[in-house]
Amino acid sequence: MAQEPPDLFAHLDGRVPAEQVRRRLDREGPGGEPVVDWRHRRLHPENWGVTRSMLTAVLRATGLYERGRRNARRFRLRRRRLVLPGLAPALDGYRLLQLSDLHLDVDHTFARELARRIAGVTSDSCVITGDFRFSTDGPIEPMLRAIDVLRPALPQSVYAVLGNHDSITMIPPLEARGIRVLFNESALIHHQDGVLALAGVDDPHYFDCADPRRAAAGLPADVPRLLLAHSPECYVEAEEAGFDAMLCGHTHGGQIRLPGDVAVLTNARCPRRYCHGAWRYRRLYGYTSAGTGSSVLDVRFNCPPEVLLHVLRPASPQGVGLSSADSGSIVR
Ligand SMILES: [Fe+2]
Repeated sequence: MAQEPPDLFAHLDGRVPAEQVRRRLDREGPGGEPVVDWRHRRLHPENWGVTRSMLTAVLRATGLYERGRRNARRFRLRRRRLVLPGLAPALDGYRLLQLSDLHLDVDHTFARELARRIAGVTSDSCVITGDFRFSTDGPIEPMLRAIDVLRPALPQSVYAVLGNHDSITMIPPLEARGIRVLFNESALIHHQDGVLALAGVDDPHYFDCADPRRAAAGLPADVPRLLLAHSPECYVEAEEAGFDAMLCGHTHGGQIRLPGDVAVLTNARCPRRYCHGAWRYRRLYGYTSAGTGSSVLDVRFNCPPEVLLHVLRPASPQGVGLSSADSGSIVR
């Protein structure tokens, strides 16, 4: 079990039950690292040091490593329409910046380069769909130093959820930096006289602590409901909990895609149609980001790192959801 900072329970008191905090801590490894048991860890080759060593050796031997690393810094800004039923006119055109899978402490340059690239992107609020840390274990301070570099480039209003690389002990320091972590909780975004319900769940991947129904508890019935989740793996529960749309990440779109646009790995226990880009499950529309950062290796091929700008629009008689129309541009 992770060694919780003394104020963790006090910090979350009145927001989530102590049992929920205890459950997450029980699933983190000793010393604070979010490492689950060996049986579970064994199923995830991205955690094997040998995987990283082998891939690095192959890419260096083929001369592809440096190209892949440059690709991992060529952030693509993608603007999309996010159409929601019952959206108030005041929220028509509201701009939601989504960053995902930042893995901020990959090196000492990533946060600075990302901050520089999004500095000119105007948004009303930002959502970060998990995986702040590069490793799945170790101290959180390098990530916090990197977030201090990135934070001035973000809008004042920032919401986030934890990913499978993240420890619950990150919540107090992130919130001290103005990043509200939704830990199976919700918040209401008020914009002029419009209201949007924004909820977030704990990591559905390793820790299996996502609870969309709890996150939706108490939300008003007459406002659109948007869910943040690290991974699309909880899409069934999200639909059953009555969410209109869901933004997530985790899969990195594969991070390395073969010619023919085929992801080598998606690392998610759900069908591939939910693992990259826009999708729909019954009444729930979703978007799975290709991720802004990289994990295991700091390289990308045929899968640019993504900065998303979702522009909210009210539903038309033709339907609701995430429009298939979008525009992408490389931010240089
Ligand atoms: Fe992840």
